[in-house]
Amino acid sequence: MKKVISGIALIAMVCLLGSLSRAEDTANGEKTFKAKCAACHGADAAGKPAMKSPSIKGKTAEEIQKVISSSPKHASLKSLTADQVKELAAYLATLK
Ligand code: HEC
Repeated sequence: MKKVISGIALIAMVCLLGSLSRAEDTANGEKTFKAKCAACHGADAAGKPAMKSPSIKGKTAEEIQKVISSSPKHASLKSLTADQVKELAAYLATLK
């Protein structure tokens, strides 16, 4: 019985750590977004027609990575790391 209880406690802890690190990703992603994307895509990522930039709410890391490596509009973003892109996607997922 003791084993079962400590097993449950372990699982609960792993889940808690997992959700804490996700919250951290989202917070870091928000910072990167405000610093590097908001000027063109708007403070809420809804896009700015005047700049011909679309809404990027809910974009995945793959979509962001593709745009960064292929679109001339995003040439200045090539220095973003894979982790930063992942964090950006975590933040954009909260805006849907
Ligand atoms: C200089 C202005 C500018 C900045 C800064 C910028 N974008 Fe964009 N973005 C655009 C424009 C314009 C488009 C549409 C044309 C294109 O893809 O080049 C676009 C398209 C996109 C798309 C594709 C959307 C779709 O539906 O196809 C994604 C994803 C994206 N941007 C993500 C980002 C992220 C993430 C950042 C910040 C790290 C960022 N952009 C910074 C101007 C910008």
